[in-house]
Amino acid sequence: MLVLGIESSCDETGVALVNAAGTGVPRLLSHALFSQIDMHQAYGGVVPELASRDHIRRVLPLTQQVMTEAGRSLSEVDVVAYTRGPGLAGALLVGAGVACSLAAALGKPVMGVHHLEGHLLSPFLSADPPEFPFVALLVSGGHTQLMRVDRVGSYELLGETIDDAAGEAFDKSAKLMGLPYPGGPHLARLALKGDSAAFKLPRPLLHSGDLDFSFAGLKTAVLTQAKKLGDELEQRKADLAASTQAAIVEVLVKKSLAAMAQTGLKRLVVAGGVGANALLRSQLNEACSKRNIRVHYPELHLCTDNGAMIALAAGMRLQARLDTLQSHYTFDVKPRWPLAELAAESLEPT
Ligand code: KG4
Ligand code: ZN
Repeated sequence: MLVLGIESSCDETGVALVNAAGTGVPRLLSHALFSQIDMHQAYGGVVPELASRDHIRRVLPLTQQVMTEAGRSLSEVDVVAYTRGPGLAGALLVGAGVACSLAAALGKPVMGVHHLEGHLLSPFLSADPPEFPFVALLVSGGHTQLMRVDRVGSYELLGETIDDAAGEAFDKSAKLMGLPYPGGPHLARLALKGDSAAFKLPRPLLHSGDLDFSFAGLKTAVLTQAKKLGDELEQRKADLAASTQAAIVEVLVKKSLAAMAQTGLKRLVVAGGVGANALLRSQLNEACSKRNIRVHYPELHLCTDNGAMIALAAGMRLQARLDTLQSHYTFDVKPRWPLAELAAESLEPT
């Protein structure tokens, strides 16, 4: 069964083709991505209207590229999947509209996929795929959540951020330091040259006793520190970056360990853009190996948004018989869509 996946929830247009034959993990045949980062950089963040317009320009050429690279023709596609939410409404509508038109033209069914389910399952495409059950640390630009995952479609929220996401904390702090958008990778690179103990920054909710996060206070502390430094900021930027990264990573690691202890599970899956962070990976690996916990990550190039995770999630849901394929081609998108809501809908296999 060939599943074409289209991702357009934010500032990356991603298209991919997977083969979801039998019950094995769907195999990625090809994928193509266009990142709009350069376009949004001039504005210091994503401009939703520009994002939508660019998705329109990219999605069909990327689809053509994916089919050519996989050596398949569109008529062989069995299902067209797209990101239904959460994300920017206009951007989502482009992917949904194109997926439904394409499916209608081909006479094939469509399927709307939850973006975070895509992230969460993306490590299944890695050379070291996880096994269920596991705890997932979802750390993206818009979300920071710990989930218990017993099988495809079974997502129990253990804790989440009460304000900013971890990626947002990286991006907003980076912006205060004058780094380009999106700040996460830039801040991480600058931090390599800095001293992480140079500034004492808060670790919000570290000892709250639950699995929730809060990063808004950290951003304010970085702002206060940057103001205090004034002209000195330029020379001390690497130290401030290293201290900020250390604070975010420490909270993510400690809360992940607490989730492992609470659930008693021995597998941790890390997904979403911040999962590409090298310090987070090294600290999690070290802490988890001491506790006999296996940690799984997506391949680095599949940490941030991509079409492969959408095609994969669609394929895995179909294999688990969680979705009824639609062939009526009317669509809606869900800019706000808690993953737990999807899990509730997935309780009864169809
Ligand atoms: O998952 P993603 O591509 O998009 C969302 O669904 O939000 O995540 C993007 C986020 C951004 O905040 C970006 O700064 C962050 O992931 N990010 C990083 C790194 N690479 C991407 N943050 C820290 N270190 C990195 N290496
Ligand atoms: Zn994402």
